[in-house]
Amino acid sequence: MKQEIVQILSLEYLTNEILELTFISDYLSSVAKPGQFINILVGESFPLLRRPFSIFNVDGNKISIVFNVIGTGTKVLAHKRKGDTLDVLGPCGNSFLSFIDDSFDTAIFVGGGIGVAPFPFLTKHFPSNKKIISFLGGRYKELIITKGLKNVRISTDDGSEGFKGTVLDLIKKDFHENKYQKIRFFVCGPTRMMKVVSDFAIEIGVECYASLECDMACGIGLCQGCNIEVMGSEKKYKLVCKEGTIFETKTVRL
Ligand SMILES: Cc1cc2nc3c(=O)[nH]c(=O)nc-3n(C[C@H](O)[C@H](O)[C@H](O)COP(=O)(O)OP(=O)(O)OC[C@H]3O[C@@H](n4cnc5c(N)ncnc54)[C@H](O)[C@@H]3O)c2cc1C
Ligand code: FES
Repeated sequence: MKQEIVQILSLEYLTNEILELTFISDYLSSVAKPGQFINILVGESFPLLRRPFSIFNVDGNKISIVFNVIGTGTKVLAHKRKGDTLDVLGPCGNSFLSFIDDSFDTAIFVGGGIGVAPFPFLTKHFPSNKKIISFLGGRYKELIITKGLKNVRISTDDGSEGFKGTVLDLIKKDFHENKYQKIRFFVCGPTRMMKVVSDFAIEIGVECYASLECDMACGIGLCQGCNIEVMGSEKKYKLVCKEGTIFETKTVRL
């Protein structure tokens, strides 16, 4: 992991609400793995704390992230321009690649809202002998992006795109219609969504790995502010930023 000043190559809207920011980094592009995140100091003096963003894509020496404008940090980020510099720290956290083995054939990706962010990079590096089905859920159409994904199924709460309902309802419907053998879930999104998907995976006896969301002050294991309770282990808590962000969901209290 290292800190560097990078130059923004582009900032474009993928939908009316989601932006993709691309910058150049020889270092990050050579070491980053799918599921890892970077910590960005979005402003020179404000906000003070870095914001974590999943690595959305690596293309040559170009790194992309995606975000929607939520609060202070993302507002500042949305006003950046081509040629501006950014202070980035990374790559941080573990990778989904650590949880790929021979015991499953089909990967079920589940992305809730902007939680889809790590999946295009993961899709690119997924073993070609395994099938991927990507389930995306969002409140409405503008919060859905499909770039870089395979076999996409979409749900929106208001029915403005795809299936009307929750992403879990869509998964259940799809599983009823298609029989997949030996599956494994990979999930990223709001905790509430990850919890219901995890409960379903446990119910049907399938492993589920989730990239956990939490507020991060340092993002590198120093402040101890991102604890998650772990189950069935001597250690009671783990740090999401350093020992995750990806955990098998049955081992943590979501
Ligand atoms: C490992 C990790 C990876 C992440 N990857 C991405 C990513 O790829 N793209 C992305 O857009 N965001 C990502 N996030 C969230 C991101 O770091 C910021 O928290 C988020 O963009 C809001 O930052 P902000 O400064 O704009 O809002 P803040 O000013 O920090 O927050 C404003 C308000 O919004 C609330 N809020 C903060 N985050 C969220 C959220 N995610 N959903 C709903 N309300 C929220 C806060 O509680 C607060 O009330 C990631 C977070 C983690 C921990
Ligand atoms: S955010 Fe500081 S230890 Fe995890």
